[in-house]
Amino acid sequence: MVERAGRVEGKVAIVTGAGSTPGPGVGTGKATAVALAREGASVLLVDLHPERAEETRAMIAEEGGKAEVFAGDATRAEACEAMVRTAVEAFGTVDVLVNNIGLASLGTVVDTTEEAWDRALDINLRTAFLASKYAVPVMAAKGAGSIVNIASISALRGDGTLAYSAAKGGLIAMTVDMAYSHGREGIRVNAIAPGHITTPMVMSVSAPGPRADFMNTMRSEAGLLGTPGTGWDVAWAAVYLASDEARWVTGATLPVESGVLSVTPLMMAPRLRGVPEPGE
Ligand SMILES: NC(=O)c1ccc[n+]([C@@H]2O[C@H](COP(=O)([O-])OP(=O)(O)OC[C@H]3O[C@@H](n4cnc5c(N)ncnc54)[C@H](O)[C@@H]3O)[C@@H](O)[C@H]2O)c1
Repeated sequence: MVERAGRVEGKVAIVTGAGSTPGPGVGTGKATAVALAREGASVLLVDLHPERAEETRAMIAEEGGKAEVFAGDATRAEACEAMVRTAVEAFGTVDVLVNNIGLASLGTVVDTTEEAWDRALDINLRTAFLASKYAVPVMAAKGAGSIVNIASISALRGDGTLAYSAAKGGLIAMTVDMAYSHGREGIRVNAIAPGHITTPMVMSVSAPGPRADFMNTMRSEAGLLGTPGTGWDVAWAAVYLASDEARWVTGATLPVESGVLSVTPLMMAPRLRGVPEPGE
């Protein structure tokens, strides 16, 4: 049993993409679902791969928390409508929606195919649009709710992920627009922009080898703190934004990125550890 601080005690949360790509470590959706449950929420765990969400459910159940799995493809309106209905039937309402589904894809404006563009927008943006479309009326009817959109620093800095960046930028734009439209209904809408965190999804993208090791070292070294970030770092930010502690925070994008947006890349050069300096 885990000691509960109760920061979201009695609330009902939906977390989309609440499973995690198989591998060591934890994805942001899985960590967020577990953290919300630890803080007293009942959580509906939405994932295309139910066996992944089932692992999250087992982890929550082991800690004495409450969660149910909803298997579905959140790019589809019927699935999102059914997901919200299921949360209401299982737990009575929806107080919190964490739009966490996302998948990075490399490509420039020249080599990104139309199919890859559509897919990136479907996964990273349409899922949040549809989930919100059906969750907002439930929140509006009770005059309260919190939506947390998991964006990325890719929306704010160039990194060769054209379609993904465009989708995440769209998610940040959607965040402020929804915050405007639904503020008077008591609904807060915020985004989190994670940096170069280490999750199983990220680690599964590149083949093991010296280059992958170097890039992994740089995930830590590129930030001001020089330490690795994980799904848990995003999860605790999401718990804050979901909770009443953030009652006066809406329309914000919170970077969780070890300060990579706060420094010019050149000035990080002398701080890189394990990278040889040129001779004096
Ligand atoms: N890992 C990073 O460095 C990083 C950085 C910035 C932002 N992010 C964002 O964090 C979020 C989660 O990333 P992660 O690394 O934890 O990923 P992950 O792959 O471990 O988890 C995402 C889950 O979403 C599920 N999913 C995918 N498409 C779905 C669909 N159509 N319907 C329902 N479920 C679906 C997957 O099955 C998976 O279990 C994403 O939005 C990602 O863009 C990650």
